[in-house]
Amino acid sequence: MPIEKVLLVEDDVTLQRSLESQLRQSRYDVVVACTLAAAQAHIAADTFDVVISDVQLPDGNGTQFLQMFQGRAIRPLVIIISGHGSVEAAMDCMKQGAFDYLIKPFTPEQLEVSLRRADDYSQLVKVNRFLSQSEPDDLPSELIGGSAAMQELRALIRRVAPTDATVLIQGESGTGKELVARELFRTSSRSGAPYIRVNCAAIPENLIESEFFGHERGAFTGALTRREGRFVLANTGTILLDEVSEVSMGLQAKLLRVLQEKELERVGGNKTISIDVRVIATTNRHLEESIARKEFREDLYFRLNVVPIHVPALRDRVEDIPALATAFLERSARRLGVPTPTLGPECREALLSHSWPGNVRELENVLQRAVIFGGGAETLSAEHLRLGRPRPLSRDMTSSSVQHESAASFLPALGPVLPTLEQVEKDLIFAALKRCSNNRTHAAKMIGISLRTLRNKLSEYRHAGYREAMLTRDLEDAVGDASSEAA
Ligand SMILES: Nc1ncnc2c1ncn2[C@@H]1O[C@H](COP(=O)(O)OP(=O)(O)OP(=O)(O)O)[C@@H](O)[C@H]1O
Ligand SMILES: [Mg+2]
Repeated sequence: MPIEKVLLVEDDVTLQRSLESQLRQSRYDVVVACTLAAAQAHIAADTFDVVISDVQLPDGNGTQFLQMFQGRAIRPLVIIISGHGSVEAAMDCMKQGAFDYLIKPFTPEQLEVSLRRADDYSQLVKVNRFLSQSEPDDLPSELIGGSAAMQELRALIRRVAPTDATVLIQGESGTGKELVARELFRTSSRSGAPYIRVNCAAIPENLIESEFFGHERGAFTGALTRREGRFVLANTGTILLDEVSEVSMGLQAKLLRVLQEKELERVGGNKTISIDVRVIATTNRHLEESIARKEFREDLYFRLNVVPIHVPALRDRVEDIPALATAFLERSARRLGVPTPTLGPECREALLSHSWPGNVRELENVLQRAVIFGGGAETLSAEHLRLGRPRPLSRDMTSSSVQHESAASFLPALGPVLPTLEQVEKDLIFAALKRCSNNRTHAAKMIGISLRTLRNKLSEYRHAGYREAMLTRDLEDAVGDASSEAA
């Protein structure tokens, strides 16, 4: 399926016609050339997935042809055709990077087999390229927590994972929705196939359609080659629509169509592509409320919410805190290369009485910070946790109804040595991002600065190497996204 466009280069007219008709019957888009020069002109003007070329052409040979592609990151797979007399030349082509060769006379089935291999291979390459560009996935391998709520959650995952049902995972920010999604994938029958994540909140509005569905060459300024979207990369596997509530209404309609028809078109293209993808979506918003505000389509909600999974807030399962805390302490210490400290007796009390508005992610960050500030101490004290006084809970941290925290209320939590103003600014920005699940627009609003200022600050931090100090992945995401957007 990833192969669509084929360039056939053959000067023997009889063979050329028969191959062309076989390829067209197999629904490939075929362009034909009789000479090396004509083939080169086609390659310069268009993007091909596969080139099938005779090894000997009137104006050159296969190795010369292959040299054209050297050093190019994206190139077609080349299948060389040779006669008995030119097997050695075909071998030379293999050394130069040809994908396969066929010796004349060959049957239509032999060509078919070669194309099927090319198809599998190019899907692999595309998924691989995508994965190597995305951020490393350092989520832990298992869901920690023995509370009744977590046991129920695990039982539900076990029941739902093997089905192909669409799942909507809801829960507050930082509760572990992404981890649940990955667990669903890992234990599904599609675990051997691609798992592709789209963070709908992090991709700029003008790029998201092409990220979802791909684009044709020339679809818009800068679209120099055809690019596959993430639905196609996820074909036969699973796609995670992370923070699906952030998709615009216009794109929601297109998303609905893909879920209903299992078909899509690339941006700027008219070819319909069928896909077979299991969909998992997450959101930390109450989608019912978004529907009432006309920000989310009800029909899309019903399509996604075939199996609802709710991940409970950490304050509703405080029994899980000690096990999570131990695991996070170990992980942070390992990352920092220091011995794992133990938690002093008053730490336990502090951890259990905190309200955890940022849920498990907040707990993870607090312990990581404690290991850093503990400076190698064997036992950590409550001061190292820097939890401050328990705060009243707020369900929606981004809503305008949230009372501003008085700046003076957190001052007593500061130690004898005060941080610099710059440090406080950084911490405040990251705290706002965390509370707004890295939604930069909301975070900027929350602390009263413009989105542009926030973006500039984030790229400044990135350049100052602040990333190294901020070990948490979610904040790295925010910094990384800001810089890629600025680019
Ligand atoms: N049960 C758990 N066991 C171990 N780690 C967990 C658990 N739940 C969450 N975490 C950790 O907490 C962090 C946040 O989890 P995750 O990214 O899955 O949250 P989320 O619900 O997707 O949050 P958001 O809505 O902000 O995207 C991650 O580092 C994850 O590894
Ligand atoms: Mg998430």
